[in-house]
Amino acid sequence: MTETVDPTVNPARGHRAGRLPGRQDWSSWPHYQAAAAGFRGYWYPVCFSSQVGEKPRPVTLLGERLFVIRDQGTVYGMRDRCPHRGVPLSHGDKQFPGTISCVYHGWTFDLETGVLKAAITDGPNSPICGKVTQPTYDVEERLGLVWVYVGDGERPHPIDEQLPEELVANRAVVGQRIQARAGNWRFACENGYDEGHAKYLHRTALWRLFKPMPVWNTTGIVRKGRWIYRVQREQFWEADFPGLGRWSGTAWYKARPPKTVQNIGNTASHRRVNPTIAAQDFPGFASVGMPGVLRIVYPTFIHYEFYVPVDADNHLYVGMLADFSTGLRALPFYAKYLGAVRWLFHGQFSGQDKWMVEVTDAPPEKLYRPDDSLLRWRKLAEDTTEERLERLRTRKAGNTD
Ligand code: FES
Ligand SMILES: [Fe+2]
Repeated sequence: MTETVDPTVNPARGHRAGRLPGRQDWSSWPHYQAAAAGFRGYWYPVCFSSQVGEKPRPVTLLGERLFVIRDQGTVYGMRDRCPHRGVPLSHGDKQFPGTISCVYHGWTFDLETGVLKAAITDGPNSPICGKVTQPTYDVEERLGLVWVYVGDGERPHPIDEQLPEELVANRAVVGQRIQARAGNWRFACENGYDEGHAKYLHRTALWRLFKPMPVWNTTGIVRKGRWIYRVQREQFWEADFPGLGRWSGTAWYKARPPKTVQNIGNTASHRRVNPTIAAQDFPGFASVGMPGVLRIVYPTFIHYEFYVPVDADNHLYVGMLADFSTGLRALPFYAKYLGAVRWLFHGQFSGQDKWMVEVTDAPPEKLYRPDDSLLRWRKLAEDTTEERLERLRTRKAGNTD
C-alpha cells in the first residue's frame, strides 16, 4: 500500500502551503489598506524648484497625471489631459502669458483658473470658450522644492502646517536628493520607520563602517503632536543566542559604544547637540508623520525622507539633510554634504533601503516584537485619515443645510 502524501502540507513547517502564517491582509487598517496610491489631502514634493521653468513638466502623483509650469515666477499645476481628445497638455506650450495651449488643436487654458480661454483653430469667437474648465492643482514652493496638493476638492491647509515644524520656524541649509524608485510608498515608509532593520541591514554600509550598531534594543513608541517617535529604552551591543553563540554589532575598528542610551543620533555621538535641534525636545531620534515623512535626528543635523506616492507601484524618494547652523558656519555642511554625505548616506546607505523596498512583498506578513513601530505608524495613518474624512463629512453636511 502506498502512503498518500498531501503535497500542500510541508511537514517541516506544519502548515499548509498557500496559507502563510500571520496577517493575510491589512483590513485592520481599512484606510491604510486602501491608500496603495497614497493619502489624499496632503502636499507632496514633486521636484526641485529649479526644474520647473516656462515649459510644462509632467508629474504623476497619487496615480494622477498633471503638469507643473512656471509663469512670471509662479508655479501652476493642471491636469495633464486635454479634455478635447485626451492628448497630454504637457506636450503643448505657452502661446500667451498665463496660459497653456494644447499641441493638437490649440485649446488654450488659463493656468490659474483652468478656464478655456481660446480654441485657436476655431477662431476668436469660438463658442466653446468659457464652457470648459480644466482641473487645476494648488502648488507651493518651499525648501527648494515644488509641492502639489492632492485633495478631494476642499481648500488645502497651509503647507506650513504640514512641514516639519523645525523647518518652518528656523532657517536651515538643506541638501537634497530626489530619486524615482520602484515599490509601493508604504513599503518605503515602513522601511524607514521599522525598528529592526537598520541595526542589521545597514551594519555593512560604509556610512556605518566605523560606528557600532546595537544588536537589539527595547523601544517605546511615543506620540507627540503629529508625529510618533521611537524612544530607545535599552541598547544591547552584544548578545548570546541560545544554542547558537555570541553575536555582536561592535568590532575593533568601530568606535566604542556609549554607556548610556542616546536618543539623539541612533548610535550616539559625543558631539554637542546643535541648540536649535536641542530646543525641539524630540522624544526620540526617529519619528514618522503623515503622509509618509521620516525624520532622523542627529546631533548636528536632521535627515528627512519624504515617500511620495507616484502610483501603487512606484514612489519618489526625497531625501533631505538640514543643518541649522547659520552664516559661515553653514559652509562646511555644503562641503561635507557634496563631498561625502550625499554619496554615502543618500546614496549607498539609502540604496540598501531601496533594494529592500523593491523586494518587500506584504501582506501576508508575520510581524515580530520590533514591528510595534509599524503597527503604531499604521494606526497613526488610520486615525488621522478618519479624522480628516470626518471633517470633510461635517463640512459637506454644513454646506447642504
Ligand atoms: S486634443 Fe487638445 S486641443 Fe485637441
Ligand atoms: Fe534603512
